[in-house]
This record gives sequence, structure tokens and C-alpha cells, in this order.
Amino acid sequence: MIFADPPYFLSSGGISCHSGKQVSVDKGDWDKTLSVEQKLDFHRKWIALCRRVLKDDGTIMISATLHSVYAIGVALEMEGFSIINNIIWQKTNPAPNLACRCFTHSTETILWARKQLTIKRKGKHYFNYEKMKELNGGKQMKDFWEFEVEENPIVIKTSTAGKSQKKYGRHPTQKPTQLLERLIEAASKENDLILDPFCGSCTTGIVANQMHRKFIGIDIDDDYLELSKRRYLGGKEK
Ligand SMILES: C[S@@+](CC[C@H](N)C(=O)[O-])C[C@H]1O[C@@H](n2cnc3c(N)ncnc32)[C@H](O)[C@@H]1O
Repeated sequence: MIFADPPYFLSSGGISCHSGKQVSVDKGDWDKTLSVEQKLDFHRKWIALCRRVLKDDGTIMISATLHSVYAIGVALEMEGFSIINNIIWQKTNPAPNLACRCFTHSTETILWARKQLTIKRKGKHYFNYEKMKELNGGKQMKDFWEFEVEENPIVIKTSTAGKSQKKYGRHPTQKPTQLLERLIEAASKENDLILDPFCGSCTTGIVANQMHRKFIGIDIDDDYLELSKRRYLGGKEK
């Protein structure tokens, strides 16, 4: 299985509000805005490389915002993938909408895809249907997800990675472990090998390890790989 959380290409000097203070929404040089053509080209290149190493019965899950999801969807199909699901993850504590000129952004999309082997034949992928149904109280799991974790010692409801998941350092776009737990449970088995080509603080690797999967992570930034090591060595998180 591959999980990827590639750059969104949305860092163009925008601002938001955090704890009552004005903050930049820029994530880093790796996230600078690109043209539509450049975005599509970038996504096609890394998706093609992933396809080379993915087994025919493996699947890829890609997390995206509205800035990237459309280019990624097209790139997936152009590079020989067939989209299985379009999972919507709703954040219950989204960044405030300061300009008040559109609806408040509160969702990310996870595109789940398998290999298109020939025009008619698709990869025979694994889906842990029963476990997903169990997690959803005995009803079929739908493609719209919300999570809330309670952060101690003060109880704050959050659906993004909270303080306890950032105690070894901060990544600007760190995914919550509960999202990765569900994705990994749904699409892989114990001892499977999981690749994350944009691993950042290695949320995927931390969860993969806790769930007895093998893991390979890649990131362009050494500081994030050091943070990943600290998270791994620091032990289990809630
Ligand atoms: C959206 S973040 C991933 C965050 C990660 N899911 C986590 O939970 O921490 C994207 C990551 O891609 C990395 N990145 C950007 N361009 C890259 C490239 N060309 N090759 C490898 N990594 C890259 C960035 O350094 C950043 O850490």
C-alpha cells in the first residue's frame, strides 16, 4: 500500500488566525504555488514512479485539498490507475474563514486508487470491509469521515493532529494518527509494506509500526526526517 500526502501548492503569502493571532498559512518552499500545467506534471511524475514499485494488487491513497485534488485525480487516471473511492475527511476545528467571501474550508479528500492493468482488468485489491463495518457500529462504512480526539490534560475536541501528537516537534501539515489508523486498517494486512513518498513527520510510519506493518518513508527535508526519528524513538502516542 502507498499513502501519499503531497504538496498542495497553496503557499502564496496567505494569512489565517491561530489562537487569536494572525499567522501565515505558508507551509514552506516545497509548497509554493505552481501553474496548473506544472502541478499536473509534478503529480504525473511521482505517481508514475509509485506505480512502478506498487504490486498489482496494491493500492494508493492520496490526501489532497481543493488546490491539488483535481490535478491528482487526472494524473492518477493518466498514469494507469482507477479511482476506487473519494473519501471526504471533515475537520471539526477548521481554520477560521477571515475574508468571509466563501464557505469555510473544512475538508480534505483522500483518493483511493488501484492499478488499471489493461483496458478491462483492474488490480484485485484488498479491502477490510468487515473491520470497517465493525468500526461503524455494524453499518457499512461510508466515504465521509469525522474524527474527534480528546487532548489531555485539558479536554479539547480536535480532529487534526493535537498537542500530544506534536510533542517531539511540529510539522505544518501533520496528519492525525487516527486518520492513518483507519486508512491502514482498511487497505493493508499485518506485515504488509507501506510506502509514504512525502512522509513529513512520518505519521504514516508511526502508525504503520504500531499496527505491525513494514514502512519506507521519503522526504526532501532532513529536519522532518529527524523529527520522524524522534517520534519513532519516543514511543507510542495516543
Ligand atoms: C503535506 S506534507 C506531508 C505531511 C505528513 N503526512 C505528516 O503527517 O507529517 C508534504 C511533505 O512533502 C515533502 N516534499 C515536498 N516536495 C518533495 C519532493 N519533491 N520529494 C520528497 N518530499 C517532498 C515536504 O518536505 C513535506 O514534508
